[in-house]
Amino acid sequence: AEPLRIALAGLGTVGAGVIRLLDVNAALVGARAGRPLQIVAVSARDRAKDRGVDLSRYEWCDDMTAMAARDDVDIVVELVGGSDGPALTLARNTIAQGKGLVTANKAMIAHHGLALAEAAEAAGVALKFEAAVAGGIPVVKGLREGAAANAIESVQGILNGTCNFILSTMEDSGADFDDVLAQAQAHGYAEADPTFDIEGIDAAHKLAILSAIAFGARLDFAQVHAEGIARVRAADIARAKDLGFVIRLVGSADVEPAPGGGQRLLQRVRPCLVPDGHPLAHVDGPTNAVVAQGNFSGRLLFQGAGAGDGPTASAVVADLIDIARGEAGPAFSVPVGDLAPLEPADAGER
Ligand code: NAP
Ligand code: HSE
Repeated sequence: AEPLRIALAGLGTVGAGVIRLLDVNAALVGARAGRPLQIVAVSARDRAKDRGVDLSRYEWCDDMTAMAARDDVDIVVELVGGSDGPALTLARNTIAQGKGLVTANKAMIAHHGLALAEAAEAAGVALKFEAAVAGGIPVVKGLREGAAANAIESVQGILNGTCNFILSTMEDSGADFDDVLAQAQAHGYAEADPTFDIEGIDAAHKLAILSAIAFGARLDFAQVHAEGIARVRAADIARAKDLGFVIRLVGSADVEPAPGGGQRLLQRVRPCLVPDGHPLAHVDGPTNAVVAQGNFSGRLLFQGAGAGDGPTASAVVADLIDIARGEAGPAFSVPVGDLAPLEPADAGER
């Protein structure tokens, strides 16, 4: 069968992870995709950097934004990051070339996902971003397809591996915040700018995307209220423990009555006291978890590695397999009903 020819932009934690996964699991991935997945071209900032993978097999592109125009490329994988800049230019160019895009870039999808999805739909190409929410956990597909028959009533999640690693390590060892953040960075969990993790912005990006999937709501990052963990102290964690709680950064989306009638969606990310018996209370390290309440499925729990090279690469390649099989599906869920926008005062600061 003809290979699916891939341009890979970004060769950091996730990009190198994708190359390793495709090397190690080539046979099973090819069998499940129905044809080989073949990287043909790669790009990053620094051509000389040792990434622990053999890049000599691929064409190097100095200008990543031009990769989609190559005749030998069927699909583009964007693993660069940033809501705008080269990642967004590449995404737009890819769709304009009539080619599909796979990305792990939650910042870009949270800010521009709607416009990209509309452009992709008009062009008849795939836009896939499983890796953008909760790393290796197939929660986008799980909620969009597995729970498609349900009205989802609420979603709660631990959506940032860095913050969860910091909070649970501080809880276990009493270690200092800055030391644990440095460990999270060394493991490759943190964003290029870790304030996005610490301030709850990264989790807010993911919650906005997840809400659009779970509720069929219009993707709107401005509607998400975000508070981070920078003000959580070791003493707060110890006091919470004495009272039978743990502190976790939780993103939650709840449907509630709107003041003017109808319903609205309240989306918030903030440090929460989680009681010991709750499924989110024992989620430690860089693990993520999402609890969704469906009106027929009941409570659904998704849990797994939320960050890191292997788990994130696993989600990226799953999207590629869907595309190779011609089973990409829509980017978002079909909208249902009307959810009124929040007043700016309710949405709060981000
Ligand atoms: P990373 O390790 O910082 O890698 C980013 C890559 O993009 C690097 O290869 C870098 O090139 C390249 N790059 C950055 N800016 C560039 C520019 N202006 N022009 C050309 N190349 C540029 O990041 P990552 O952790 O792999 O994350 C990649 C994406 O996946 C991000 O959107 C992130 O949010 C998302 N994500 C990450 C994880 C995770 O656990 N790390 C999980 C889920 C989603 P150089 O290497 O040459 O500097
Ligand atoms: N910085 C992110 C996190 C990476 O810590 O969860 C995974 O999206």
